[in-house]
Amino acid sequence: MRHGASPPLRTALGARPYAARVSDTPAPESAEPCRPDWPRVRLHVVTGKGGTGKSTVAAALALALASEGRNVLLCEVEGRQGIARMFDVDPLPYEERRIATGLPGRDGPGNHRGVVHALHVDAESALLEYLSMYYKLGRAGKALDRFGVIEFATTIAPGVRDVLLTGKVYEAVERNSRNRHAVRYDAVVLDAPPTGRITQFLNVNNELAGLAKVGPIKSQADNVMTLFRSPRTAVHLVTVLEEMPVQETSDGIADLHRARLPVGGVVVNLVRPRDLDKDDLDAARAGTLDRAALHADLAEAGVAAGDDALVDGLLAEARDHAERRALEDSQRKLVAELGVPTYELPRLAGGVDLGGLYELAADLKRQGLCS
Ligand SMILES: Nc1ncnc2c1ncn2[C@@H]1O[C@H](COP(=O)(O)OP(=O)(O)OP(=O)(O)O)[C@@H](O)[C@H]1O
Ligand SMILES: [Mg+2]
Repeated sequence: MRHGASPPLRTALGARPYAARVSDTPAPESAEPCRPDWPRVRLHVVTGKGGTGKSTVAAALALALASEGRNVLLCEVEGRQGIARMFDVDPLPYEERRIATGLPGRDGPGNHRGVVHALHVDAESALLEYLSMYYKLGRAGKALDRFGVIEFATTIAPGVRDVLLTGKVYEAVERNSRNRHAVRYDAVVLDAPPTGRITQFLNVNNELAGLAKVGPIKSQADNVMTLFRSPRTAVHLVTVLEEMPVQETSDGIADLHRARLPVGGVVVNLVRPRDLDKDDLDAARAGTLDRAALHADLAEAGVAAGDDALVDGLLAEARDHAERRALEDSQRKLVAELGVPTYELPRLAGGVDLGGLYELAADLKRQGLCS
């Protein structure tokens, strides 16, 4: 973790090669114990601009937590079945399913691997569950569903859906003896709505408490808000090193602060390799890289000696990379000024499969994003 405007962000680079990932490699050993930045947190909310890697980071975080021996629930509330896709399993029902175990840690007593369960929360099922738990509306609830009442109830009032979704997340974190058959979790990771909606989503119970004034709805809403505003919750923001997502992250942090919701860390995802030094980057941008040396290197590697077109292509790619790196560096400075702990994850060549998720989990753990 790094704080605020301290020296340039720590990156996973140097710790291991970026691109040399083979999809069927076994999960890397996470020999290092985690020095957790978030030891008190039981609910990790992962938000960020669309497409920056929220679901990927949420899944990797769940695996990182499980590698510490924690039992973890990974929840999604956006109806996309992203978890099933990432873990390559059938679409998830409204039911907690065991989907993975944590990274293998060091051998020894007390170092067992925790389990990740996953849950796809949808508002209709959450309402049916609520009705059956509190009003014993078993079959009657199903009838309401058949007549479309449940769908009606969950779409009629803006915010009702979010009340149901956040209510289920609260239940999973605060699970108690009332729910006798349910698994108890040490941590819940929420693949949450994007930055533009996150404060409204987490704050919906605040508005509900204001409307209800007294009674059970008010006290349930107060309980949810108490958890969401407590140090047991952390809202992490995922970004990439581009102008719009970084600006959105900054705005999102300000919104969360205004709503008194606890800001966690910023996870900078999809970071490009940083294996060229400043002189090489400057030369690549200026178009002054040594052509002859490149020819010689290619010849030595036995690749198309004397191929001018190939050398031109490589130089153009190097310039493009150097320009992007310069943009990234300027955005990295802005991220460092946000004043929250930051973490970086590499852009994995070829995308993220299960092996890749474990790799990202090991990176998060090494940097302290665990508890
Ligand atoms: N570190 C990474 N390296 C390589 N590919 C990545 C990485 N992180 C995410 N991706 C890929 O980027 C795409 C978007 O990631 P993901 O689905 O996690 O984003 P998201 O923020 O959840 O998107 P959405 O807003 O649609 O829910 C996916 O194809 C994912 O595999
Ligand atoms: Mg997603």
